[in-house]
Amino acid sequence: MTASLAAVDRDRLAALIGRERAAYRASFPASRDAFADGGNHLLGGVPMTWMRMWPGGFPLFHAAASGARVTDIDGHEFIDFCLGDTGAMAGHSPVAVQAAVARRYADLGGAATMLPTQDAAWVAAELTRRFKVALWSFTLTATDANRWAIRLARQLTGRPKIAVFSYCYHGSVDEAFIVATPEGPRPRAGNVGAPVDPCETTRVMEFNDPAALDRELSHSDVAAVLMEPALTNIGIVLPEAGYLDAVRELTRRHGVLLINDETHTFSAGPGGCTAAWGLEPDMVTIGKSIAGGIPAGAYGLSAELADRILADPTADIEDTGGVGGTLAGNALSVTAMRATLGEVLTDEAFDGMIGVATRFTAGVRSVLDSRRLPWTITQLGARAEYRFCPDPPRTGGQSEAAADGELDEYLHLYMINRGILMTPFHNMALMCPASTAADADAHTATFAAAADELLG
Ligand SMILES: Cc1ncc(COP(=O)(O)O)c(C=O)c1O
Repeated sequence: MTASLAAVDRDRLAALIGRERAAYRASFPASRDAFADGGNHLLGGVPMTWMRMWPGGFPLFHAAASGARVTDIDGHEFIDFCLGDTGAMAGHSPVAVQAAVARRYADLGGAATMLPTQDAAWVAAELTRRFKVALWSFTLTATDANRWAIRLARQLTGRPKIAVFSYCYHGSVDEAFIVATPEGPRPRAGNVGAPVDPCETTRVMEFNDPAALDRELSHSDVAAVLMEPALTNIGIVLPEAGYLDAVRELTRRHGVLLINDETHTFSAGPGGCTAAWGLEPDMVTIGKSIAGGIPAGAYGLSAELADRILADPTADIEDTGGVGGTLAGNALSVTAMRATLGEVLTDEAFDGMIGVATRFTAGVRSVLDSRRLPWTITQLGARAEYRFCPDPPRTGGQSEAAADGELDEYLHLYMINRGILMTPFHNMALMCPASTAADADAHTATFAAAADELLG
């Protein structure tokens, strides 16, 4: 029995979900028809199968988007807290990125030439200013940044395995689909066509447990710990005081590289958690938001590691050695990164985004407190997420145990039906530079109404 059951009448919840589903079907006929008519040759009826995760039986179809607003093909405008699950943390189509992309693609011409552009040096220097590590290379996705960072880590250490935290998510990285259970590690449920059992490639432990990390690293077969400094893909799980220091001390003691995946934790500030919390990773990976929604990712590493990999005669990083991609570092992505980092996701912009997220969090907390709902909300800079347990989870396993599919569906539908988009995989809200205090307040009011109907 989940903690939420203590406060929620399941029959009432089922009735409310039925009502909200009916309202959804009635309110979005063009999307409903587009989904029904258009999907004969699309796997699962959508351009990418995750898009089936939206509640209500069909996704809204996107017509237009600007800043913190999305408009569907029925003409409804939404306050967007999903922001493309972080892909649009800079806001939708920010003007500076529009201009840079138009100039590169239309005025100057050429997205993919296999030649460097001068923007790349600026972007790399800016990433170093923010995330500290010295040398950068570009990818098209955060997944690829992680894949290539892992390959480099194995090459550099001569060790075969990586270590991750239970219920982490780092993209479709084969090694990371593993969870820790009392009976030992096991592949994550639903792992599609795994090339090899991840128990052979990966060590896994719960977050916030230094002894478990010490135990897993003591086998001397781990090349790198790949981690989000705070878990963000199983609710938000913050590190306890001293935990990240222990991670760094243990990785150093065991000769293991530390890779910070800042793809989501970038919400903590202009240099992600790495800068906000003074962390010292050996490598940093990032993607999603850094090019204003144009596909781009990056991995960075220390000067010492870079020298070693460049000097390694057995590491082919220039041709078919397993790192790199034809369109990675292309001129369009790079100019979009320059515009996004230089003009949109600036240090000042983060102050505003974090301010709105703080207001959002306080609003939700006031609703939970006044209704005595046994749920919790956790903020990580410009991002906040509620979870159906009374105390913030300490581990991925605890957070997973607090999942509640019915409550998720009810709250997501309730919000969409009233003009608010939340991230479908989460109860997560992310702020972009265009998000406003009024947006946060609109969410608080709608959340309060949803809670009151639930509690009767
Ligand atoms: C922390 C983290 N890293 C990497 C990724 C992979 O990003 P992408 O799917 O854009 O490759 C994700 C995606 O959700 C993520 O949350």
